[in-house]
Amino acid sequence: MIEHRLIERMLGLVERESERVRSGRVDSVFIDTAVDFIRTYADRTHHGKEEDILFSELAKKPLSQADAAAMAELVEEHKTARRTTGELVKANADFLAGREESRAVILEKLQFLTAFYPRHIAKEDKAFFPGTEKYFTAAELEEMLAEFNEFDRRMIHEKYERVYEVLAKRG
Ligand SMILES: [Fe+2]
Ligand SMILES: [Fe+2]
Repeated sequence: MIEHRLIERMLGLVERESERVRSGRVDSVFIDTAVDFIRTYADRTHHGKEEDILFSELAKKPLSQADAAAMAELVEEHKTARRTTGELVKANADFLAGREESRAVILEKLQFLTAFYPRHIAKEDKAFFPGTEKYFTAAELEEMLAEFNEFDRRMIHEKYERVYEVLAKRG
């Protein structure tokens, strides 16, 4: 939930930027940076902890049908966000390659993401997280928190390993 707050603040900036894109100005560096935020922070670090730790631990519990369905829906939504971010990257590259018409695609993807995340976050904060805590004992919750911390600790190394790999591939 703490991470959701930073994602929301970033989305505020993305929303402001969408207005600029709408009026004809595309700042490809902003889009690249926002994509990095979404991929590294919102997806790999945040959705990563949800999927690899919380959801995977929940999957071992006797979930009610409604909770199991809600979890599957959240996982699908993560996939949608990932796909949309990929489409945004492509539209940004197209724009940089001189295809002016991709500005409309960039705008559409930015608007999709700013509409999508608040709804996704609200489902987790207001319903799924509070509603599924009951499946865990206090000790299990503590253990998951420790796993979250270990997951986070690895992220900075993973991120810069990847930066190196991308640059190395350029030759
Ligand atoms: Fe999520
Ligand atoms: Fe989340």
